Amino acid sequence: MHVDRYERWWLTFGIAMLIVFLTMIGFAAIVDNINPPVGMKTIDPTKVAQTPPFDKPGARRLPDGSYEVYYVAHVFAFDPPALTIPAGSRVTFFVTSPDVVHGFFIPYTDINMMAVPGWVSTQSHRFDRAGEYLLLCHEYCGIGHQNMFAKIEVR
Ligand code: CUA
Repeated sequence: MHVDRYERWWLTFGIAMLIVFLTMIGFAAIVDNINPPVGMKTIDPTKVAQTPPFDKPGARRLPDGSYEVYYVAHVFAFDPPALTIPAGSRVTFFVTSPDVVHGFFIPYTDINMMAVPGWVSTQSHRFDRAGEYLLLCHEYCGIGHQNMFAKIEVR
């Protein structure tokens, strides 16, 4: 079978790229231990308001000085809308949604999650720098999406 010279180059290039990308994914999975989330917590999205601890959204201080913060993301706001924590605190965020998919994004931190009905998403961040942080919904969720934000004050 005759394969054109340029065709052969492109085939070689394509296969080489496939090998490079698969190697990178394998490297990230094994060496950096980056994996899809497992053992995620579930919640009945119709009963978020009655399910502890999401029935009382907000911050809990743990004995080691870190914080757990429970957020409910709903059309078109976050509960709690404002939060104050001391600088240097490690904060673990837990977020869920009773209605549609929302985003949970805090610029200039590594917090970037989705709030999915039925699931509890979680991520941690240490707030070393004092100041006011914005918590944004960055998943289009409806007519009021652009107004969906909350504030976190670190001092
Ligand atoms: Cu909630 Cu966009």
